[in-house]
Amino acid sequence: MRKVLVISDIHLRSNKRNIIGLDPLKQFLEALSHGLKKHPDAEHMILIGDMTHSGHISEYELLKEATNSYKIPITFMFGNHDNRSNFTKVFPDVSLTSEGHLQKKIVLGNDVLFCLDTLNSDPHSEREHEGKLCEKRLKWLEQELIQVKNKRVSIFTHHPPHNIGFPGMDKIKLSNSADLFNIIKKYQNIKHIFSGHIHRSISGTTNNIGFTIFKSTCHQMPMDLLSVGSSLSVAEPAAYGIVLFDDQSIIAHTEDYQIALLADASNEDAMPDKL
Ligand SMILES: [Fe+2]
Ligand SMILES: [Fe+2]
Repeated sequence: MRKVLVISDIHLRSNKRNIIGLDPLKQFLEALSHGLKKHPDAEHMILIGDMTHSGHISEYELLKEATNSYKIPITFMFGNHDNRSNFTKVFPDVSLTSEGHLQKKIVLGNDVLFCLDTLNSDPHSEREHEGKLCEKRLKWLEQELIQVKNKRVSIFTHHPPHNIGFPGMDKIKLSNSADLFNIIKKYQNIKHIFSGHIHRSISGTTNNIGFTIFKSTCHQMPMDLLSVGSSLSVAEPAAYGIVLFDDQSIIAHTEDYQIALLADASNEDAMPDKL
């Protein structure tokens, strides 16, 4: 069984600025150390977008410092809160497509994971909150898919390419999702779509493909299916994803590591030698 960790919506801020009272850097560092301690056998870690809150260079520098010596290979992905040019200034060695997009193919045995760049801007221009895959990015995907017809494929996007039932977030999903599904429907070997952006654990099927959305390591989306806002936030426990691949299945777990940390602490307190 092969294992990949997925960290979503880190929203790093510099100068110790918080988000609804939460410290994004502290919570990210807790996720990193928990992931490494509990899952040293993970072959890869994917940061599935909104790595920073404002796309500032100082925020990417925090990200670099936090991940520099991490012992699991990392793939970086953009979300609507990221900034292309600032990211590439701080991470000049991260490879981009020939058109400058942050898209990557990860091969894990019989599984191929395509990490797509849904940030709605050409390289080096301003961001929009809804996602988009331009013709160049879609063409890259199709050219890669043709080469892995014998593999099982998973797609990773920051913006979900489908509705999830939160009106405010459905307005800023992947705007041209029909273009993506026009490609996906030609390839029966595409089995699952993983996304972030919503800041809540959600799963289901769309266009006959399974999907999973992971919580943020910082603030979460409240369970509110009526409000039209896209920045609703609540300090529910943070989580990261653990995806397992075996011959039969793609299995998505969510690890609410802040609950786990509390449980670990109380178990230690309960040990007889501590009495
Ligand atoms: Fe986010
Ligand atoms: Fe987002």
